[in-house]
Amino acid sequence: MNEEFLKKRLTARQEEGLLRKLSVDHKRIDFSSNDYLGFARSAELKKNVAAELENLPVEYGVGSTGSRLLTGNSKYAEDLEKFIAAYHHAEAGLIFNSGYTANTGLLSSIAGKGDAILYDELSHASIYDGVRLSAADSFRFQHNDIIHLEDRLKFFRNKPDTPPEVFVVVESVYSMDGDFAPLIEIANLCEKYKANLIVDEAHATGVFGKRGVGKVGELGLEKNVFARMHTFGKALGCHGAIVLGSNSLRDFLINFSRSFIYTTALPIHGLVAVKCAYLLLDNGINNLLFINNLIHSFVSIVENKKIHGFLKSYSPIQSLIVPGNDEVKKTASLIQRDGYDVRPILSPTVPKGKERIRICLHTFNTEESIKGLIASIKKNVNAGSVFAQS
Ligand SMILES: Cc1ncc(COP(=O)(O)O)c(C=O)c1O
Repeated sequence: MNEEFLKKRLTARQEEGLLRKLSVDHKRIDFSSNDYLGFARSAELKKNVAAELENLPVEYGVGSTGSRLLTGNSKYAEDLEKFIAAYHHAEAGLIFNSGYTANTGLLSSIAGKGDAILYDELSHASIYDGVRLSAADSFRFQHNDIIHLEDRLKFFRNKPDTPPEVFVVVESVYSMDGDFAPLIEIANLCEKYKANLIVDEAHATGVFGKRGVGKVGELGLEKNVFARMHTFGKALGCHGAIVLGSNSLRDFLINFSRSFIYTTALPIHGLVAVKCAYLLLDNGINNLLFINNLIHSFVSIVENKKIHGFLKSYSPIQSLIVPGNDEVKKTASLIQRDGYDVRPILSPTVPKGKERIRICLHTFNTEESIKGLIASIKKNVNAGSVFAQS
C-alpha cells in the first residue's frame, strides 16, 4: 500500500506547527473540558444512571440495533424527547447522536436550493459544514454585527428572486470567544425580514436560564426561534444532542435529515444518562448559581489584576489572546507544566492574530486553583503584551 501521500501531508502539517495528536494525560487541574457543572465526573449521576438502567426491562439491551427509522427506536427515546422539549418550553424535539450531526443534519436538510442561510463568522465547524452540505445560498456576517446582518437580510429580501426561506444561524454562547449573541436584536431582525432563526445553545445548555434552559429561554424568545440545538456533551456531561422546534420540524427532520436517518441510534445507556443528567440539572439550582458566581469572580480577578488580553466574556469560556501559533503553544505548555490543563487554540481554527489560550471554568474549580492559574498566567505569559505595566 502506498502511504507516502499520507506521510507527506502529515509532514507538511507538522512543519506548519499544526499537527494534532491524541493524548490520555488528564492529571492536571481541568480548565479545559466542557464539563462546566462537573456532571461527567459526578458520582451521584453515575449512581442514578446505574439505578435507572437496573430498573429497565431486559428488552433494553446494550446496543440500539439500528437507526431510529428501523429497529433503533424506543418508547424511552420518544418519552425523553418529549421530556426535554417540555423542559425547554418547545413543542417537540428530535435527538441526534451528537451536536455535530444535529447541526449538519438540520442545516443541510432545512435550507434547499434557492433558500439562503446567513450565519455568524465565528460559528462552530458543525454549522460551517451544515451550510456547506446545504444547496442554499449562504452568507457569513461579521461576528455579532447586527448592522451587517441587517444589510445582508435587506440584500436577500430585495433580490428580484428573493429566496423563499431565509435562515439566520447563531450560537447563543460562542464556543471560542465565550461571548453572547445579541439574541433579542437578532430575533427582531428575523421578524422584520421574515427569516427563520436557528440558535445553537451548545454552551448555554445547563448554564444559563432558569433550570439551565439556555439563553433562548432566559430571554423568553422561545416563540421567536425556528429551531434550537442543545448538546448533551457539555454541561450535561453526557453525549448526543437535540433539535427543538415544532412538531412539523420534527417530522421534517425524520424524513429528510440524513445524519438522523442513516445512522445507528444512541444506545439506551446514552439515553438514560441524558435523562438522569436533566433530572440532576433540575434539582441543582445551586450549580447554576455557583458557576455564574465563579464566572463573575474570575472576571473581577482578571480586571483587578489588570490582565489585558482576555476577551470580554460572562460565560464559562474565558479566552486569553496570545498572538501567534508558536507563542500560544509555548505559553500553554508552560502553564500546563504548572499543573493546569489549558489548551492553545491555533489559527486557522481561530483567525490569525487571535490565537488564544481557552480557559473553561467549572463548578469543581476551587478558588485556590483559580488563583494558582492566574499566577501561572502572570508568570508565563509575555508580560509586555499581556499585563499592564504598573
Ligand atoms: C457551538 C457548538 N455547536 C456544536 C458542537 C458539537 O457538539 P458535539 O460535541 O455534541 O458534537 C460544539 C462542540 O464543540 C459546539 O461548540
